Amino acid sequence: MQSKIQQAGTAIIEGTEFPVYKGTHGNEVIDIRNLTKVTGKFTFDPGFTSTASCESQITFIDGDEGMLLYRGYPIEQLAEQADFIETAYLLLEGELPTREECAKFRNDITYHTMVHEHFLKFFDGFRRDAHPMAIMCGAVGALSAFYHDSTDIHDPEARKIAVHRMIAKMPTIAAMAYKYTIGQPFVYPRNDLHYTENFMHMCFSVPAEDYEVNKTLASALDKIFILHMDHEQNASTSTVRLAGSSGANPFACIAAGIACLWGPAHGGANEAALNMLQEIGTVDRIPEYIAKAKDKSDPFRLMGFGHRVYKNYDPRAKVMQKASAEVLEAVGVKDPLLDVAKELEKIALEDEYFVEKKLYPNIDFYSGITLRALGFPRSMFTPLFALARTVGWIAQWREMLEDPNQKIGRPRQLYTGAAKRDFVPMDQR
Ligand code: ACO
Repeated sequence: MQSKIQQAGTAIIEGTEFPVYKGTHGNEVIDIRNLTKVTGKFTFDPGFTSTASCESQITFIDGDEGMLLYRGYPIEQLAEQADFIETAYLLLEGELPTREECAKFRNDITYHTMVHEHFLKFFDGFRRDAHPMAIMCGAVGALSAFYHDSTDIHDPEARKIAVHRMIAKMPTIAAMAYKYTIGQPFVYPRNDLHYTENFMHMCFSVPAEDYEVNKTLASALDKIFILHMDHEQNASTSTVRLAGSSGANPFACIAAGIACLWGPAHGGANEAALNMLQEIGTVDRIPEYIAKAKDKSDPFRLMGFGHRVYKNYDPRAKVMQKASAEVLEAVGVKDPLLDVAKELEKIALEDEYFVEKKLYPNIDFYSGITLRALGFPRSMFTPLFALARTVGWIAQWREMLEDPNQKIGRPRQLYTGAAKRDFVPMDQR
């Protein structure tokens, strides 16, 4: 990656001048790399809410405007006009592919979708009731033992193959995790199908009968994947970068990202939103839940509302709401939870509490309803997110390795434990 940082001025901290940089969009940053050398002090920023951990040219979010850009292109345009493969190429390479580039990339991904036959045996070690995310953490980490030839991170060609393998094998692994937990045989990938169609085929077909992928549903799922592909330096992406900063194996780094995504505050929120809509059940009970959400003595929060970065409507939520309606129409289901969701959104968007705190629906608000209508059980919601986010994780991993300023991640701390003291022998304690 070629640095595009521009100096915009300076800032005085503790009497010393530090450079201030500006990027293409977003907040300016103060370069405090020399702060400790000059002042002997660290900065204190739990949760890194004020810290830019790296320079990146992949994704940008403007939380106040409700804007999400992949390589400069608005997410709404990509979700409407591009497909998974085109968007993945864009995130990885920085530009939309030409027809030839797209065909070559599609081919490279398609011909890496199979996993080593011995890899299948690995699954037998898991209990049948294991959560698919638990299986994915283990299975993706195990890829490092099967494809060691592509893990010389200093060789650009090996990095490229690792990137292709990771994106190509993720649907196969996610589908295998699903099939294993429901006791059905693994289904091999089909090279004549598009990326998302192939994933649906591996999840929903069985050897006993023919299965034809519904193109409308596959296209909706493709859109959902695009929405989830990347999101700046979120917790799981930062985990992948931190793991990768030590020079670790790329597949192991992605396994670390999966582990982080599994947390309910990150990838698990769509499941929580669906549970909440189910608990509310009918439109007439909405006021009761709005009151609970506003009550400071009640820990209840409206799931799928609010976001650390978006202080406006999450642009992904708009696309998701549309995809939700398309899927429900295609499967011919009238889900009463969609009515509850729409009404809840309407009431919350007019309520002073939510308006004042800038709490808008996030991507998770409608995604649970949509994924359920597509035929996925709740336990698969986060694996689907992981499948899509793999593109962002691996693109950010590669960008980090190609960044001349890259260093092993090693945050500091504010130590408030016991002061230095001498050991006390056991009989004197
Ligand atoms: N319902 C009711 N009140 C809320 C909600 C909510 N969903 N979200 C925030 N608030 C209130 C808080 O109580 C707080 O009120 P206060 O200022 O009176 O104390 C205020 O809004 C600010 O909340 P914070 O938690 O400080 O905001 P933050 O930006 O740190 O949190 C978060 C964002 C964690 C997403 C929060 O909005 C939340 O818990 N939402 C519900 C869970 C959810 O949908 N998570 C998915 C996020 S998207 C993703 O990860 C893909």
